[in-house]
Amino acid sequence: MTMSPRPESDPVSQSFGSLVDVRIGLSAEVRHASVSALNRILAHTMALRDLYKKSHWQTAGLTFLELHQLFDKHYEEQAALMDTLAERVQTLGGVARALAGDVATESRLTRAPSGIETPHHQLARLLDAHEFVLAEARPLAREAAERGDDGTNDLLVSQVIRTHELQSWFVWRHIPRVVEHDKRA
Ligand SMILES: [Fe+2]
Repeated sequence: MTMSPRPESDPVSQSFGSLVDVRIGLSAEVRHASVSALNRILAHTMALRDLYKKSHWQTAGLTFLELHQLFDKHYEEQAALMDTLAERVQTLGGVARALAGDVATESRLTRAPSGIETPHHQLARLLDAHEFVLAEARPLAREAAERGDDGTNDLLVSQVIRTHELQSWFVWRHIPRVVEHDKRA
């Protein structure tokens, strides 16, 4: 197999961490701060999205079907959130985190074992992850508002924070059922 010829110019047209000019009435300084905040939350979102898919595949027991379905619903919602966050970064003139290796560098969510956890441990881990992201997102949202980036503030409040709070509630409410089944097993 022959490799297709590569163009001689620099393959990277915008380096990570840099900003290009955009015409949305926000200074480069403001946009730079928002891009950093959004990329941090984006990395957590991608990590949590994948944790939901892992949980979707690996859950078992008497609550299998409801958890299997719940985890996939939350996976889809985190994937939608990821897309919104990444496109906000690009809207601000930045470069969005996109690859698994970048996520591992940026996200500080506790990494799950590769093996299968019990449903109770799956739920506890997801609950911890939501609380971790919420604790990071709230001050970042307030800071965005303080520097005049209302669009980023709105995204963080009405989409990131609200989605995490709602998903956390669904996860939390499943714990008693899982514990009940564990006792009977
Ligand atoms: Fe599936």
